Amino acid sequence: MREACPDPELIARAGQIIREGGLVAFPTETVYGLGGDAMQPDSSRKIYEAKGRPSDNPLIVHICEIEALEGVADRIPEKAYRLAERFWPGPLTMIFYKKPCVPYETTGGLDTVAVRFPSNKIAQALIRAGGGYIAAPSANRSGRPSPTLASHCKEDLDGLVDMIIDGGQVGIGLESTIIDLTEKEPVILRPGYITQQMLSEVLGEVRTDRALIDPDSGTKPKAPGMKYRHYAPKAEMTIVKGESGAVLSYINARLDALRAVNKRTGVICTDETAPLYRADFVHSLGREGDEESAARELFRMLRRCDDENVQYIYSEAFPQEGLGQAIMNRMAKAAGQRIIEV
Ligand code: TXA
Ligand code: MG
Repeated sequence: MREACPDPELIARAGQIIREGGLVAFPTETVYGLGGDAMQPDSSRKIYEAKGRPSDNPLIVHICEIEALEGVADRIPEKAYRLAERFWPGPLTMIFYKKPCVPYETTGGLDTVAVRFPSNKIAQALIRAGGGYIAAPSANRSGRPSPTLASHCKEDLDGLVDMIIDGGQVGIGLESTIIDLTEKEPVILRPGYITQQMLSEVLGEVRTDRALIDPDSGTKPKAPGMKYRHYAPKAEMTIVKGESGAVLSYINARLDALRAVNKRTGVICTDETAPLYRADFVHSLGREGDEESAARELFRMLRRCDDENVQYIYSEAFPQEGLGQAIMNRMAKAAGQRIIEV
């Protein structure tokens, strides 16, 4: 996907908005972010307010050079530099102990801070113009799918932000991988484009937070954001797992039953199976096995189901390996963990 270039005049204006305590929605390679100055407590307060987000859910601090890490993080382990060398700039967020200069408003009251160096050029230019440290959650209203287009930010935040920078459709489409480096063993708190396998190539074995693998385990996720209902379309969504013929017949039977009682239905599937479903709206995430396309399209398709006032969504399940882990993590949250095996 071709990335849009930063317009210097626009970036200068946006940087000034950030420095003066305002908010700017901007593209990153993962999803659009809602940016404010990470060092100003009032900016972070404004971010929570605009998003309608609980203030115990910490923000990620975005930087535009590795050297800036030392300005906000304390006791940085050597592992962090190895990860940074391999994956920064890029879709990886690392958690460290925070320096006292980072306001608790930004870290949701925690003594730790999440830091990411995005690769998107508009994001980098904005961070530089904005003073070097931009706190940015995904630029959606809390609970809605993350924005992968500037129009999604406008839908959710019109009138609540000072500027929205349009950088086209984002390349990745799912939020960054989060890894906690504050404990002896690094732990993945949120799966993303940088997979467990890619991380273990640098670090040796890496664990995933238990609360993510088994949402019913009763353990509390370490990333506060992972405990909230998320990405939720307005429709009731169900993921159907199993052999492809069985999935197809199960979903079609459900669709027929729902349409018989005048419910609006939607299906999320692949190019290969799309012609075979009898839903009101059928949305393909791309060709079977093309995980990059599925990641890029998922949130957009969930939003589209909302626009179409779909009441019931059935989605095919995706394989859990590699990037599939992150895709299924987001889908399962959108479906409120409603997963059926046929
Ligand atoms: O790709 C991304 O990471 C995007 C773009 C804009 O950079 N940002 C993003 O931010 O997804 P947000 O706020 O939607 O998600 C941040 C997640 C939340 O689940 C939050 O709980 C977790 O990061 N988090 C932030 N700081 C943390 C900390 N100190 N300890 C544990 N989890 C933290
Ligand atoms: Mg978010």
